[in-house]
Amino acid sequence: MIIHEGTVDIETISTFEKGPGRISPGFYNRTMELSRDMSVALLKVLKPGVALDSMAGTGIRGLRIAKETEWTVVLNDKDSRNTEIQKKNAALNSLDLEVMRGDYFCAVSSRKWDYIDVDPFGTPSGLVDAAIMNLKNNGIVGVTMTDTANLEGKSISKGHRIYGSRSIKGIYSREISTRIFAKYVIERGASLGRAGRILLSIRDGHFIRVFVRFKKGNMVADDSLKDLKMVNVGGEEIGPVYTGRLYDPEILEKINGFHLSDYSQKVLSNFKNEDLMFLFYENSNGGREVKKSRIIEELQNRGHKAGNTNFSEKGIKSDAESEEYRKIVSLL
Ligand SMILES: C[S@@+](CC[C@H](N)C(=O)[O-])C[C@H]1O[C@@H](n2cnc3c(N)ncnc32)[C@H](O)[C@@H]1O
Repeated sequence: MIIHEGTVDIETISTFEKGPGRISPGFYNRTMELSRDMSVALLKVLKPGVALDSMAGTGIRGLRIAKETEWTVVLNDKDSRNTEIQKKNAALNSLDLEVMRGDYFCAVSSRKWDYIDVDPFGTPSGLVDAAIMNLKNNGIVGVTMTDTANLEGKSISKGHRIYGSRSIKGIYSREISTRIFAKYVIERGASLGRAGRILLSIRDGHFIRVFVRFKKGNMVADDSLKDLKMVNVGGEEIGPVYTGRLYDPEILEKINGFHLSDYSQKVLSNFKNEDLMFLFYENSNGGREVKKSRIIEELQNRGHKAGNTNFSEKGIKSDAESEEYRKIVSLL
């Protein structure tokens, strides 16, 4: 079957329109279009270099990067059936690029890279260090985790063991899980003498993805740990979590003009709100639900920044202090 995404046509063997899908060669998952859109958009605004799509599947992410940006791309997958599909897909899109078949660790350590994409099924635990080690100075890692239940659901203790932080269930779980995953990747970098700086973070569907730039140096690496903290949420001590910016404002500004899928565009429009505050307010007043758009409008009328958050249907992010927020909601 041939599917179309971004500017490429891709031959797939199995196509999943929703959810995580099932592991198989030639697998295409529509839910991940957002994640791929953001990889393309991010690399488009950065100085071009050499990118490795280390777990490429059909090759769709790397092929999109090669077609839609100025970057040079290398594809890799351990499964020879995917290698064959990647070659066909490169030809289908008139792209001439290097395709490797090999284990992740061989591919990432075969040279130094400006960008490495790590897109496993499940957790990237055990993979992240090798990517960071094989980046050029100031190189970037884009990494996905799809074991969100370990940080948001029933398996909080498993998440603690894998990611080294205690998470939380309930309405704040999606923001907390994203911040724990960001912490995890920054911490791995610091242990290797690299300072990680978050460029973009995404929490959507069944996955979390962060894009992190790494700079070499022990002093900067020490410094990168300053935003990793324990936090109190509703009386519970959780973390450590990354409490810094989830988005680079300059990158957001540049990406904003791009033509992305309608869904990616909608998600992107909320990114600018996410760093207005840690966590978010809910649109209720003593159990009475107040229309979100009315609250946001009123906050803006009073000179505050305010908007929706991708972390919760009911959430509002604003730079207004909580007392001011409560006062405004009580008047509506
Ligand atoms: C989630 S899929 C990647 C999807 C793809 N990036 C996309 O956007 O459609 C994970 C891929 O990693 C490959 N893979 C799993 N373990 C690997 C390893 N150790 N080395 C290289 N590739 C591996 C699998 O064959 C599979 O194609």
